[in-house]
Amino acid sequence: MSRVSKTFGPVQALNGLEFSVNAGEFVTVVGPSGCGKSTLFNIVAGLEEPDDGGILRFKGQSCHAAELLGRVSFMPQRDLLLPWRNVVDNAILANEIEGANRKEARAKALAMLPEFGLAGFEKQYPHQLSGGMRQRVALMRTFMFERELMLLDEPFGALDALTRTMMQRWLLDVWQRHRRTILFITHDVDEALFLGDRVLVMSARPGRVKMNCPVPLPRPRHADLVTAPEFIALKRQVLDAIEEEAMKSFTLSTGAH
Ligand SMILES: Nc1ncnc2c1ncn2[C@@H]1O[C@H](COP(=O)(O)OP(=O)(O)O)[C@@H](O)[C@H]1O
Ligand SMILES: [Mg+2]
Repeated sequence: MSRVSKTFGPVQALNGLEFSVNAGEFVTVVGPSGCGKSTLFNIVAGLEEPDDGGILRFKGQSCHAAELLGRVSFMPQRDLLLPWRNVVDNAILANEIEGANRKEARAKALAMLPEFGLAGFEKQYPHQLSGGMRQRVALMRTFMFERELMLLDEPFGALDALTRTMMQRWLLDVWQRHRRTILFITHDVDEALFLGDRVLVMSARPGRVKMNCPVPLPRPRHADLVTAPEFIALKRQVLDAIEEEAMKSFTLSTGAH
């Protein structure tokens, strides 16, 4: 996309956003809260149109956001599991809305349960699951809706640190096998670097891409990577960029100088 901006009344959420994602790439997006990360995803998912003048391209073709609806699989910031549906029926929701055969979709979901750490839990309801399991059901739904681009908006944001690192390793494992193109939002720099081929650091609102940081660390990645000197050096760079932006938004919101 290029020159993508988005204004909500008096609030300019995005200003001249510019970036692209290659097929099969895992790109992570970090930035201060309120800088327009979710707005960016809503545009890419086809739920919001950018302001006039912005250019979106999908597979080389320029398009309106609305044309992306249904071509991209999207896991919103909240897990959005339906409390009255069991694990399997939550997992097939997007396929069902699309008009897929329910029986076939259920069979496919059942076959995927072990990979998502949910074997034997098909009949359970969301309230009977741990936080990590609920996130895996939501992720499974996103994986089942097979699209060329997958958007994950802070999928592990609400999890405790231990569950979170386990889920990160697990996600890399699943990604390694399925090789989807992923855009992943997080506010956790370790997570962004551990997962991504590339980290996009967004500026304070109005959001734009402040820094495009390739992560040339070998895969498969192991938990101890986060203490490696190369990792720490990248982290310092990204943190410096984020801190500068966080200070800006803090100064703006408090009126301090
Ligand atoms: N639908 C909307 N209507 C009005 N303002 C919105 C809407 N969506 C987002 N905003 C505003 O745009 C800014 C960016 O929000 P958001 O994209 O959710 O940020 P982030 O996900 O980075 O925390 C915020 O100031 C938010 O209040
Ligand atoms: Mg958000």
